[in-house]
Amino acid sequence: MQRVQFFVLAMLAILLAATWANADNVFVGIEVCQDCHEEQYERFTKYSKKAHSNRSVQVMAPDLTDAELKQCYTCHTTGYGQPGGFVSYDETPHLGIVGCETCHGPGHEHVESGGDADLIQRTMTMEDCETCHNAERVQAFNFKPLIYSGAH
Ligand code: HEC
Ligand code: HEC
Ligand code: HEC
Ligand code: HEC
Repeated sequence: MQRVQFFVLAMLAILLAATWANADNVFVGIEVCQDCHEEQYERFTKYSKKAHSNRSVQVMAPDLTDAELKQCYTCHTTGYGQPGGFVSYDETPHLGIVGCETCHGPGHEHVESGGDADLIQRTMTMEDCETCHNAERVQAFNFKPLIYSGAH
């Protein structure tokens, strides 16, 4: 019996350690990228609607239930539901928009290394975009602001 308990505890410890190791490469937010990628940062904040995707949600928030709001987060924030990703506008304000790391993946390790190119995702496929820009999924979601946006 004791042996079994020890085994279960050991497995739990390993699982926890693995979770922590994974959570290490967290999302850092676009301001951190700015330090070394001024040009991309400038263009992104100036021209990409993604840089203001929090406003789109916050404008609608008073009319939404909590459950509906969480749906918005999956497409309008950075890393929602992933380790080290967006939690709430209060707790993780730096991840409140669809930032650089939506496409390039979590940047912590890349930043810590001083810019090791192997530690950041450079290219992506249409599939990566389709998690948010998929006509079917957007239609299935069937929420009016999407329709009124005229963009889907
Ligand atoms: C401390 C400086 C620094 C910070 C902060 C930084 N980077 Fe970099 N990044 C670099 C350097 C240096 C390179 C070029 C590496 C090379 O060409 O070998 C690079 C390259 C890249 C590349 C191209 C990788 C490739 O395969 O060519 C991407 C994409 C990138 N960074 C994204 C980001 C993102 C997103 C952030 C914020 C989360 C960020 N970087 C933060 C220094 C930084
Ligand atoms: C996490 C969800 C998400 C992913 C992944 C994503 N996008 Fe977006 N994108 C958005 C949201 C949300 C907006 C609109 C922001 C707003 O207006 O509030 C947007 C806006 C856009 C726009 C409108 C023009 C503009 O100024 O930004 C284009 C084009 C676009 N995305 C292209 C892409 C491409 C290409 C990819 C894949 C490389 C991609 N997106 C991946 C969520 C995402
Ligand atoms: C499946 C992903 C997804 C979900 C979920 C989602 N959005 Fe979006 N939303 C997008 C994308 C992608 C765009 C940008 C479309 C474009 O410009 O092509 C967008 C754009 C918008 C816009 C801007 C329209 C404009 O013309 O600038 C508003 C407002 C908006 N969404 C509100 C919301 C709200 C509120 C919720 C939650 C109730 C929500 N969205 C949920 C993906 C999503
Ligand atoms: C909608 C997806 C998307 C977002 C958001 C995004 N990037 Fe990129 N980024 C790309 C793509 C696609 C490439 C080109 C990859 C290629 O052609 O090899 C790229 C390339 C880069 C490169 C390599 C050098 C270059 O310009 O080609 C750097 C550095 C970079 N991005 C940094 C950033 C930073 C910093 C942000 C946020 C301020 C950001 N990116 C936001 C998709 C994105």
